[in-house]
Amino acid sequence: MKLSTLLASWATASLAATIPLSPQTAATRRIPTSYESAVLGRRILALTPLGTLSTVFPDDHAPNPSTRENRPAGLAGMPHGLMEYLSDCGGDGNPTILAISIETSFKNAAAGSNVSASLQWTPPHPPAKRIQSEAKSWVGRAWDYLVGAGEVNDEEIADPSTYSAANLPRFSLLGYIEQIEGGDESKELAKCFVDTHPDAKYWLPGNRIHESHFVRLVVTQIYWIGGFGDRAFIGWIPLEEWTKVTKAEWEAVSLPGEKKGWKEWKFEGDL
Ligand SMILES: *[C@@H]1O[C@H](CO)[C@@H](O)[C@H](O)[C@H]1NC(C)=O
Repeated sequence: MKLSTLLASWATASLAATIPLSPQTAATRRIPTSYESAVLGRRILALTPLGTLSTVFPDDHAPNPSTRENRPAGLAGMPHGLMEYLSDCGGDGNPTILAISIETSFKNAAAGSNVSASLQWTPPHPPAKRIQSEAKSWVGRAWDYLVGAGEVNDEEIADPSTYSAANLPRFSLLGYIEQIEGGDESKELAKCFVDTHPDAKYWLPGNRIHESHFVRLVVTQIYWIGGFGDRAFIGWIPLEEWTKVTKAEWEAVSLPGEKKGWKEWKFEGDL
């Protein structure tokens, strides 16, 4: 037997058993349903304290002049996204937000804009192996495997580029802002929000600096991209599926990279 043949059969056998060199095979791959994606999305909502809130500027003659203060003319219809603190205090899929009245997003909402919140899943641990940037022969991959190339040190977590974000779930909750009745007086709601965002205690409703109110984003549509389309659901999640998901259901699944040593190509442990 030629050395290369020997090496090839050894490499094929040992590598196949230990690392996923290629995407899951078609035989084992199953695209999650929209409901399974809703469960993952509800887990992301529960575990992710930040989102990007998007609104649209009202026209220059919007009825409430306070919503047009301090902004240039001619912005009507312009979309506008800004980071916002979110919390899953409602537990019903409608994120809780502490709205500061002078913030542009909430001025736009007060002037009638619909609102969307964009969230993405960021794994707490980097993957043990990265998706490679170049197509390699099995010899190259075997060599990489032997020398440990592509392995990511867990200390490198501060570098957000240690994972493929395109392969991870993100979604957008579309709807409108609604004040939470009795929310500003609710100690329970304040505690829930401050548990997620300790610094927000300085701008709770009734503080001396800024007028603020607890609001919810009432979700009416959900657009989901679970990752690469050959293994993830991409599309609209029906509202009734989004709201039906229980805490027990989202607590029972896990997202990529919640545990150390995950592989970027694999969607582990969830379905
Ligand atoms: C908000 O979205 C709804 C559809 O969900 C639409 O009917 C309504 O006109 C929108 N409002 C504004 C101000 O664009």
